[in-house]
Amino acid sequence: MNVADRATAGFRQRYGAEPAGRWAAPGRVNLIGEHTDYNDGFVLPFALPLRTVVAAAPARDGRWTVWSELDDEPVDFGPADADEPGRVDGWAAYVAGVVWALRADGHDVPGARLAVASDVPVGSGLSSSAAIESAVLAALVDLGGLDLPTGRWPRLAQRAENDYVGAPTGIMDQSAVIRGRAGHALFLDCRTEEVEQIPFDLDGAGLAVLVIDSRAPHRHADGEYAARRKSCERAAATLGVTALRDVDVADLDAALARLDDDETRRRVRHVVTENQRVLDTVALLRAGRVRDTGPLLTASHASMRDDFEITVPEIDTAVEAALAAGAYGARMTGGGFGGCVLALVDAGSADAVAAAVTDAYARNGFTAPGTLTVLPAGGVTRLD
Ligand code: GLA
Repeated sequence: MNVADRATAGFRQRYGAEPAGRWAAPGRVNLIGEHTDYNDGFVLPFALPLRTVVAAAPARDGRWTVWSELDDEPVDFGPADADEPGRVDGWAAYVAGVVWALRADGHDVPGARLAVASDVPVGSGLSSSAAIESAVLAALVDLGGLDLPTGRWPRLAQRAENDYVGAPTGIMDQSAVIRGRAGHALFLDCRTEEVEQIPFDLDGAGLAVLVIDSRAPHRHADGEYAARRKSCERAAATLGVTALRDVDVADLDAALARLDDDETRRRVRHVVTENQRVLDTVALLRAGRVRDTGPLLTASHASMRDDFEITVPEIDTAVEAALAAGAYGARMTGGGFGGCVLALVDAGSADAVAAAVTDAYARNGFTAPGTLTVLPAGGVTRLD
């Protein structure tokens, strides 16, 4: 059964009724621009064809009941739970967080019954959390007839995650999931939230993006993420700028000379050079030179590995094996310490590159990776 039908079937079975509608939101990968979003910088993600679907209908009692195929038991919560971050936990916190963020923004959020099905794997760094947040947000906005232009949705969904769930993430994932467009990568300025849809015609160039799920166990990912963020904020304060975005790559050496420990210098170097790599990638894509972006992707990986120190052996192995098998470029995508690698490959050699990575994994005794070729897909939408 496809994911939309699973959401409907779950709704019928749980609630013995028909949903009023179904809303779908994709996962995402980030082509380039890692750990730049919370530094007010640039990112270039795109939405995936894998989606999370929410089937929903209003509930007159003013409460929210949500069932997910991840879990047998539905979770029920009322306004008091939604108003106090932490009262709902686990996967349902992403749903309660959206209700919380909408209420905090002054909206009269309708009670609802929801059923969630998803093809976005959880814990693989493909933003299953932003997908559920965005699909639920779309459902509640429509069911309640709320006056909330889509341009404001990413910040609201981010607030659900930051302030209700308690993960200090940036604006990239929700932006990609909400604003993504088929055939395009989303060039986002995370300070101004200005976006430009950049044509990313893989098919036309005879190319594919291979996504490799490292299957690496997440090792202290949350704490390490928060530590990187703090370190960037401290460095910006030392340098007297609002955010590391304000350090131009031409001024990098002078900025580094003003920092007194080597670790902070490396963190700053990653962010500043990564912002420039995003700009360079956008320039190449605008010129239709998709293949030539490969070395920038690989340089981004080296910077994450050596300077930002957020990769793990499984991830580095996948990148090296993909490059050795002929990928034009490869890099980890997402927050780090596990998750996925993406590789830019000839469409005809995607299978061979995937096999080479799987072999390298076997030689190293790692759990076999997952592999999938993807094209940029559209953002959140109402299905019916
Ligand atoms: C996670 C966060 C994003 C972003 C990336 C790193 O995916 O949710 O906001 O910071 O890590 O680029």
